[in-house]
Amino acid sequence: MSTAIRESLPRILSGVQSSGKLHIGNYFGAIKQHIERQDKGDCFFFIADYHALTSLKEAEEKELALAAKNKQLTPRPARQILADNVRDVAIDYLALGLDPAKAAFFRQSDIPEVCELAWILSTVSGMGLLERAHSYKDKVSHGLTPNVGLFTYPILMAADILIYRSHLVPVGRDQEQHLEMTRDIAGSFNHAFGEVFPMPEAVFNEAAIVPGTDGRKMGKSYGNTIDIFAEGKALERAVMGIVTDKKALEEPLDPDTCNVFALYKLFASPAEIETLAVKYRAGGFGYGAAKKELLAKIDGYFAAARERRKQLERNPGLVEEALTNGAHRARSVAQVTMRLVRERVGMHQRPV
Ligand code: ADP
Ligand code: TRP
Repeated sequence: MSTAIRESLPRILSGVQSSGKLHIGNYFGAIKQHIERQDKGDCFFFIADYHALTSLKEAEEKELALAAKNKQLTPRPARQILADNVRDVAIDYLALGLDPAKAAFFRQSDIPEVCELAWILSTVSGMGLLERAHSYKDKVSHGLTPNVGLFTYPILMAADILIYRSHLVPVGRDQEQHLEMTRDIAGSFNHAFGEVFPMPEAVFNEAAIVPGTDGRKMGKSYGNTIDIFAEGKALERAVMGIVTDKKALEEPLDPDTCNVFALYKLFASPAEIETLAVKYRAGGFGYGAAKKELLAKIDGYFAAARERRKQLERNPGLVEEALTNGAHRARSVAQVTMRLVRERVGMHQRPV
């Protein structure tokens, strides 16, 4: 796609926090949509490392607790955790098909202008708006001691979206309120200083919530994930550990209430799904056999991405080059926006 055509398309932006290994809930809930959209818009995707800092202390404590239980693990210091997570997410996205020639792919912290915009936006954002944030309230009610960054997280997220004057923001439903806050903040700024920001629209992926191995929503904090890049024994352990009901082998099984079947549906064709449903209903087919079919599907589905991931791990220069090029593109857009913002609020233009 030529640059002129790309720039005439809607700007699509999303961010992913670098906070641990990505699982198949993240893939079907977010990553797959991001990658599919790179042919349909002027895409900007970034690794939210400034945001990840808001929960880095918890990540470090979790690692210390794990190392206390498992003496073979050496806990990493916080800075190593952050750096490793950013590198891992970058490699994961590239391995899964993100093409840096199509989408600008970059680290949030390579664009320091986003922090400047966050500050300016914070001066038009009401305390009440932030105090109503579900995500913040949830974390605090679960015992997390909040830092100021966690409280102002939605303002930085608004800056991420607005600085690139994004039109569409593909995210999971859990981000709905953050998007509403972004629109609110954009409206306050435009009202105070004149139209600068287009109103961004959230695009929700309506695919069902991916269940975890215990039947609850798959999520890092529940310990019920199947990681995208798990392989061999680790993948087998996760799949064979999926919780099912306890039916005798001869009994028919109900595909509509089974976690194994729900996961299988994500990976198989309609004909394959129907074939498995027939086996479930016929009886004489156990969950162990169903899990083996699921295991083969997951293994095959991500096989090519796993190979690409291994190659990228051996070529850190390629990963760095993609992120650097992405940052140059993103930063040039961010700087144009910031010149306009500074002018509108009455600040002088910085000497270059
Ligand atoms: P986690 O719940 O594991 O901490 P995140 O909150 O970092 O995952 O989610 C990153 C993205 O993946 C979000 O867009 C979220 O909506 C999506 N996502 C996470 N878990 C699931 C799931 N089980 N099903 C569908 N989408 C999910
Ligand atoms: N808060 C988002 C999440 O947890 C990550 C994020 C940060 C983001 N900035 C963003 C998503 C801007 C979309 C747009 O998933």
